Amino acid sequence: MKRLLAIFALSLALTVSATPGHAEGNAATGKDTYISRCWSCHSVEKGGPDKIGPNLYGLFGATAGKRAASYASRHSAELKKSDIVWSEETLDKWLAGPEKFVPGTKMPFVGFPKKTDRDDVIAYLKSVTQ
Ligand code: HEC
Repeated sequence: MKRLLAIFALSLALTVSATPGHAEGNAATGKDTYISRCWSCHSVEKGGPDKIGPNLYGLFGATAGKRAASYASRHSAELKKSDIVWSEETLDKWLAGPEKFVPGTKMPFVGFPKKTDRDDVIAYLKSVTQ
């Protein structure tokens, strides 16, 4: 009986921990989405080139517009003074509509209306930029 209870408690704990507060994206799907929607303007690997937008390595925890020294002079004043710190939460807002989140930004991207697209791309970015 004790053993059964222990198994029950364990499976309960596993169920709870498998239900995070927010949806975890799928990095593999996110990679495909990234390649079709972001790659033309951004590289992700360490030391990768700036394209139309800055290289995104080291994104998480960095302050918007102040991370990529090589791109500093090309950033919009609006993004530089936004004081946004990049995290899953702020990236979610950014990718839902950059122009809504930071009016005046130079990133010409309409945004992903679907939360799953944003979650997937964020999961991919987490897996390759840190
Ligand atoms: C047509 C080119 C273009 C596309 C497509 C594009 N971006 Fe950007 N991105 C930019 C530009 C330009 C900036 C700089 C914006 C500014 O300074 O206002 C930028 C900035 C960013 C930043 C802020 C970087 C920092 O250091 O603060 C992130 C994060 C970002 N883009 C992610 C993405 C993701 C993810 C996608 C795909 C969903 C994407 N971008 C699609 C051009 C693009």
